[in-house]
Amino acid sequence: VTVAALLAGTGLAVAPGAAPAVPHGHGYPQVRTSDEPTRRFILTAGTATVRVGGRDVAAWAFNAQVPGPELTATVGDVVEVTLRNRNIGRGVTLHWHGYDVPNSQDGVPGVTQAAVLPGQEFVYRFRADQAGTYWYHTHAVSDVGVRMGLYGVLVVRPGPPTGLDVTVPVHTLSGRPLPAARVERVEAGVPVRLRLINTDNTTHRYALAGTAFQVAAIDGFDLRGPTPLAGTTVLIPAGGRYDLVFTAPATPVALFVDGRAVYSTGEVSTATGGWPVLDPLTYGAPAPAPWTRFDREFTLVLDRGLDLHGLLPRYAHTVNGAADPDIPPQVVRRGDVVRFTIVNRSQTVHPWHLHGHHVLVLSRTRTAAVGSPLWLDSFDVRPGEVWEVAFRADNPGMWANHCHNLGHADAGMTLHLMYS
Ligand code: C2O
Ligand code: CU
Repeated sequence: VTVAALLAGTGLAVAPGAAPAVPHGHGYPQVRTSDEPTRRFILTAGTATVRVGGRDVAAWAFNAQVPGPELTATVGDVVEVTLRNRNIGRGVTLHWHGYDVPNSQDGVPGVTQAAVLPGQEFVYRFRADQAGTYWYHTHAVSDVGVRMGLYGVLVVRPGPPTGLDVTVPVHTLSGRPLPAARVERVEAGVPVRLRLINTDNTTHRYALAGTAFQVAAIDGFDLRGPTPLAGTTVLIPAGGRYDLVFTAPATPVALFVDGRAVYSTGEVSTATGGWPVLDPLTYGAPAPAPWTRFDREFTLVLDRGLDLHGLLPRYAHTVNGAADPDIPPQVVRRGDVVRFTIVNRSQTVHPWHLHGHHVLVLSRTRTAAVGSPLWLDSFDVRPGEVWEVAFRADNPGMWANHCHNLGHADAGMTLHLMYS
């Protein structure tokens, strides 16, 4: 089913004329058939046995490793990733979390492609033109698939890395923490970039001890004028990424996640537990809001309740009282500036994630976003909070819009945004 077919009969015409440029400067990397891939990868999904904390754990893995291979590209590359499924019976896909690809490459089974079944393959292609930190994961039975290990890191660098540039994905495999603490010697004066990636279903607390640092980027977008921080905790929502930068001091530095050292340049003993939490809405140099008027507005009320829209009533994680597949799609026109107001009436955190777009944060409950323009693809909507976010509908297709606690997503908290 094409988006055009789905829109037929809704009375919505395609908006004429060229839409103004996206203020955040990301394009949508359509590959032309004449483009030769410059970075090629093959990811083969299959069952595997992975060693975690001295024990063998049954996993589903890309190329027999968890996380899967780290995919790296440089701006200007044409990336081609061949996905093969060896024996994952429920099928696999690749979704490029936070990387805004054209809809056909987005990897959502039943929406943008069919799940890749055992013995089958699917080839993804996109342009590397969005420098930043991302990750990939299966979107077929995503809750089980990601927990079993079908995920990995995607990094697009603007050029050859300067200094030390490392990724720190944090995840648990079937309830066991990964990876083991990594220790790396770094000479004083070397610029360091730590790319923190929360591939888990819940928020994690990150604390960097032994140095001042800046949050250079969140969710792949560079922040404007990030000021130095020290003794500060950053909370990364499920799916989110923070890039921390600092110049290596002569003494050791350590990154703690929920109080556990996961990366260090030597022995550091610091209690990071009481450190204040950074509010990204007030961090960095302010800039005027790009939008003051909105063509379309939607309110999403997140709750847990009885879904009465299906054949039989059931308890589910709901959006406006309904659960997937009974939540009406959000239909917009190409070029619209769209505002979402997301209200969490439930007792649990819902890390929200819209595919194919980054949203500009306008406010969270009574806090206006007054720091650097904050373009996110993953953000925690905590119980009682109200988030206002906006985006321009400039990447046509049918896009999943869901909670990234993937258990919630699979239990109803998924809807779709669509336009052609
Ligand atoms: Cu990280 Cu719909 O996904
Ligand atoms: Cu949720």
